[in-house]
Amino acid sequence: MTAQSKTYDESLARAYEHVRRWLSSIDERPVGPRVTATDLLEDVGGPLPDDGKDPAEVVDELAAKADPGLMAIGSGRFFGWVMGGTLPAGLAADWMVSGWDQNAGMRYSTPATAALEESAARWLLELLHLPSTADVGFVTGATMSNFTCLAAARHAVLATAGWDVERDGLTGAPKVHVLVGAERHDTIDLALRYLGLGQPEPVGSDEQGRIRVDALAEALAAIPQGEPIVLCLQAGNVHSGAFDPFAEAVALAHERGAWVHVDGAFGLWAAASPALSDLVEGLSGADSWTTDAHKTLNVPYDCGLAIVADSVAMRAAMGVHASYLVPDETGPGDPYEKVPELSRRARGVPVWAVLRSLGRQGVTGLVDGLVANAGEIASGLAAIDGVEVLNDVVYTQVCVSFGSDERTREVTARLIADGTTWMSGSRWRGRDVLRISVSNWSTDARDVRLSVDAVRAAAAS
Ligand SMILES: Cc1ncc(COP(=O)(O)O)c(C=O)c1O
Repeated sequence: MTAQSKTYDESLARAYEHVRRWLSSIDERPVGPRVTATDLLEDVGGPLPDDGKDPAEVVDELAAKADPGLMAIGSGRFFGWVMGGTLPAGLAADWMVSGWDQNAGMRYSTPATAALEESAARWLLELLHLPSTADVGFVTGATMSNFTCLAAARHAVLATAGWDVERDGLTGAPKVHVLVGAERHDTIDLALRYLGLGQPEPVGSDEQGRIRVDALAEALAAIPQGEPIVLCLQAGNVHSGAFDPFAEAVALAHERGAWVHVDGAFGLWAAASPALSDLVEGLSGADSWTTDAHKTLNVPYDCGLAIVADSVAMRAAMGVHASYLVPDETGPGDPYEKVPELSRRARGVPVWAVLRSLGRQGVTGLVDGLVANAGEIASGLAAIDGVEVLNDVVYTQVCVSFGSDERTREVTARLIADGTTWMSGSRWRGRDVLRISVSNWSTDARDVRLSVDAVRAAAAS
């Protein structure tokens, strides 16, 4: 054994023990952190010491110091924002990705990770019933996926209008009209900002946050013929879980030559469940799709997917050429042609591992299980005095009010302080709400019961 591998052994052995301890503590500890980042900074901050420290001891120090500031996102009773946990195969594969330390940009230099990612991409397209010829890029998350897909959209609609945006930039370019639902996720606006496309044009939505087809038809009619149009739809509203009416919206937009993008950060996975097929009817007719693997699929952060039907547009927007790179000519092109980064970790490998470990039926079961738990939570909460469930619970999201905004905020604060479960507050359709997002594979009937009981207690006190 070399001195170097001995050094690794000790640090990794300690990291393994600390992570095991962390994972086994998750069911017992309060879900929320016990300190703020500002508190913790006192402990981990200060000037960088002059002298180094043994790496294994650094691992011990890290584990001890971080512990009070860790959120138990992997708990079956964590329902905050939209954050999934981590399936065992995903966590283990993610560790291997770090251990292998492959720079996953080039097929030629890192064939193992390239092949695993390509295989995962094919499995995904099949599972989600998307065109088998679509290009898939592994990005950090849905924000970067929205950016990547909309960069491809910008290329395509401007090319159709006779403008080469990669060569000539945006100055003097035809205006790109970007239509979005009034309740799109804010990262759509962020992606448009990165792309220099400015503020989008919001289209009215219904009481569940779905884009209204009549309002969309009106908005499209107001755009002069021949002008470039991008339409952003949504699979899974963060508050209601609602899905836009894809079949009608895609048809209307395509009649006008628009590019249709779907932000399905957590909702695209509904396409893997036959029971949810009504929600995703017409979804596959869009031009690009965003999703996260680190949400519904429960792989570790950071892992999003940018899926684009027109691979020419994707590569025109994202491709890079440098003389020292070795382009692959034996397969479907290099990973770096499909994402914003040149160098990156092989974040698609945990996706491969989780898909392999679940199989097709397991993915369907995972999605159906999350939806069933959301339904159980909604009916448990609806039975509590003074609780109003505000959305139609069609997927994984539940939004409730406890009467006045003030009371909803108070109950939310008491619930978080109690620590049995974690649900986050928000504002939706002019009201303060408690949002429940069921995203964790490990949530079971006991977690649902304990969480509903905790809400009942917070509402009673
Ligand atoms: C619909 C939707 N789009 C985009 C995002 C942003 O995802 P990420 O945090 O992975 O960048 C989210 C996050 O919750 C989301 O729910």
